[in-house]
Amino acid sequence: MTDKNATLSFSDGSPAISFPILPGTIGPQVVDIRPLYSKTGHFTYDPGFMSTAACTSSITYIDGDKGELLYRGYPIEQLAVNCDFLEVCYLLLKGELPNAKQKSEFVTMVTNHTMVHEQMNQFFRGFRRDSHPMAMLVGVVGSLSAFYHDSLDITDAHHREVSAIRLIAKLPTLVATCYKYTMGQPFVYPRNELGYTANFMRMMFSVPCEDYKVNDVLVRALDRIFILHADHEQNASTSTVRLAGSSGANPFACIAAGIACLWGPAHGGANEAALNMLEGIGDVSKIGDFIKRAKDKNSGVKLMGFGHRVYKNYDPRAKLMRETCHEVLEELGLHDDRLFKLAMALEKIALEDDYFVQRKLYPNVDFYSGIVQRAIGIPVSLFTAIFALARTVGWIAQWNEMISDPDQKIGRPRQLYCGAVRRDVTPLATR
Ligand code: CMC
Repeated sequence: MTDKNATLSFSDGSPAISFPILPGTIGPQVVDIRPLYSKTGHFTYDPGFMSTAACTSSITYIDGDKGELLYRGYPIEQLAVNCDFLEVCYLLLKGELPNAKQKSEFVTMVTNHTMVHEQMNQFFRGFRRDSHPMAMLVGVVGSLSAFYHDSLDITDAHHREVSAIRLIAKLPTLVATCYKYTMGQPFVYPRNELGYTANFMRMMFSVPCEDYKVNDVLVRALDRIFILHADHEQNASTSTVRLAGSSGANPFACIAAGIACLWGPAHGGANEAALNMLEGIGDVSKIGDFIKRAKDKNSGVKLMGFGHRVYKNYDPRAKLMRETCHEVLEELGLHDDRLFKLAMALEKIALEDDYFVQRKLYPNVDFYSGIVQRAIGIPVSLFTAIFALARTVGWIAQWNEMISDPDQKIGRPRQLYCGAVRRDVTPLATR
């Protein structure tokens, strides 16, 4: 608690009330309004949680004005170049980076859980071949709770840990299976001698009639995509996971809820939408017309991959993604890639345009990640599922933090009711 208070006064003569101000380690302080309703009979009104902190957390910090992202205090720029994805998973889950022994034990534990129950393959066969991967993923992740009864006791820290490892380990297998199913190719089992990301790429791209050679540059690029998407504090899908978990629902069900929320085009679906937008624009000569439509509120068009609720500066993840984009296109001999050139021209024009400057709209992580994924060979319809794979560790770390918090309560927002006042039902014959 700070020694500051905030006082709320009312113009109708009701007594003023004081609220304590709570500090974090960095970032905005919060006015603790928990007793507001019991003391005044008023709620606060904040659709979209524009000014509301719904929890305390020690996992991820974002300074939107500076364009800074920290996982457990470490800047994303340093993690992206010094660590691999499983080290970042360890950090998010446990609070500290692992030493060599801890890393090796963690990698072994994750590796030992990469297979999914064989019965799950029957589930996939029930879907239409043209199902969206996210439609399948919501279903199969939720249904993991039907297979792993031995890790569902959320009051048991060991169960929670096993569920977290299972989710992190099995998501690559499930996402690759979604892809193989839509392609009509045989499912590929994990190979435990490969690293996490190389294993995922092999499950995606190998076929029985041909060996798959893992390309280290592409593995590193995808691993970086995973690191950049691993957590992002209380965004819509993470808040969904917390809200679902606050009722005591099991972790697999909660992560399925997060996946459903992530699917929307304003959230995880934006990388898919950004790439489709670039395809739609087609040529640098059409950018002017597109920007005009993106600025027109009646057009329904937005510059996808631009703008962010929290970042009012260049998203630090977008910078790293643009760098990775260069590396991957270079490796694949695609330096003349049409969409990358178009994206860079579009970015340059938008960053100089008054509309975007005044509203502090900058590229976010999704602006370039689609181009990298497409170059790697990942189909557009799978982009959001890749995001879900990477974000699973963030969701489960946040879920675990919430469950372990002794102050945890079921989430229950209130409302400003604007509907009909009490009235009587008239019989059907007289309506
Ligand atoms: N193109 C054109 N105008 C925009 C855009 C855009 N991409 N984003 C925001 N605006 C305008 C918006 O119309 C509003 O204008 P005005 O003040 O004149 O009414 C102003 O900028 C503020 O926008 P907002 O919608 O109030 O901001 P928000 O915080 O509610 O929305 C956002 C944030 C990410 C949903 C939005 O910027 C957006 O839809 N961007 C495109 C989708 C996208 O790239 N999403 C990925 C987000 S990053 C990945 C993730 O973390 O999930």
